Amino acid sequence: MADRRRRVVLVTGASSGLGNACATQLAKRGYVVYGTGRAPDEKSRKADEFFELIRMESSDDDSVHTAVSYVLAKEDRIDALVCCAGMGLAGSVEDTPIFDAAKQLDVNFLGAARVVREALPGMRAAGGRILIVGSMAGRIGVPFQAYYAASKFALEGFVASLRMELNRFPVQVSIIEPGDFRTGFTAARESFGLSGDGPYAESGSRALAVMEESEMAGADPVLFARLVLKLLDKKRLGARYTVGLPPQRAALAIKRILPRRLYELMLMSYFKVLVRKGE
Ligand SMILES: NC(=O)c1ccc[n+]([C@@H]2O[C@H](COP(=O)([O-])OP(=O)(O)OC[C@H]3O[C@@H](n4cnc5c(N)ncnc54)[C@H](OP(=O)(O)O)[C@@H]3O)[C@@H](O)[C@H]2O)c1
Repeated sequence: MADRRRRVVLVTGASSGLGNACATQLAKRGYVVYGTGRAPDEKSRKADEFFELIRMESSDDDSVHTAVSYVLAKEDRIDALVCCAGMGLAGSVEDTPIFDAAKQLDVNFLGAARVVREALPGMRAAGGRILIVGSMAGRIGVPFQAYYAASKFALEGFVASLRMELNRFPVQVSIIEPGDFRTGFTAARESFGLSGDGPYAESGSRALAVMEESEMAGADPVLFARLVLKLLDKKRLGARYTVGLPPQRAALAIKRILPRRLYELMLMSYFKVLVRKGE
């Protein structure tokens, strides 16, 4: 069982990317860290020396229950939960089968909800912190990422509501909204209808290329890990935090001041999907 003074943190999606950077940095700072991935045995990463990677499939109730119960059985508590597990889908609303859209929402939105539900009983009694990874795409919408954006918008509403429900308990909750980061997310993204001669193939693949280029030139996951370290020590957590390269944070901030249509035009132009009259 962990030393009472060492805080126990569960990081979902810790086999790669943001979760991996965060779990590694927390472990290096003396936290007792458990991370999750779908196939922990297949991953032989140097991070293994820093934290224990346990199996968890976000879309499976039993798998989430087993993973959280394992940590509670070993440590008797979870002081902080960082929900990073997630994946991306690209494709038009029309081309993406509802089966796959539902999977997107199940993994990204309900997946986080499942872990929170499992961790809350202990946290309500002993206190704790919950950090949910949303996305800037959960504030602005992105062409050909409708279901991904919807999963992240859902998390925004979930966290805003949960914060009020937990007001009388010693549990603090925040959402972290990353911009583009260099992680395994880009290669793992599934896409629908973006090749061939379908009605959305050309504009959709242009938008996806912009997105992929931006992710590959995105921020280092260590930036995200630093924010998490700061938030776990902060006295009072705010409702949301953005993290990423300054131009993307600025682009999100100007949404507040630009007229809605102008902002939409700006986004369409950025993603190369703006059709001018006569085209
Ligand atoms: N990278 C970006 O630009 C960016 C921007 C905004 C938000 N985000 C968000 O950041 C979070 C982390 O993404 P990342 O960029 O670090 O991507 P990543 O490198 O692909 O890592 C994703 C993590 O989620 C896990 N995961 C994926 N599907 C899962 C499932 N069905 N059940 C359980 N675990 C699953 C993966 O584990 P296994 O594959 O080993 O199971 C992996 O550990 C995601 O929620 C993503 O939406 C990323």
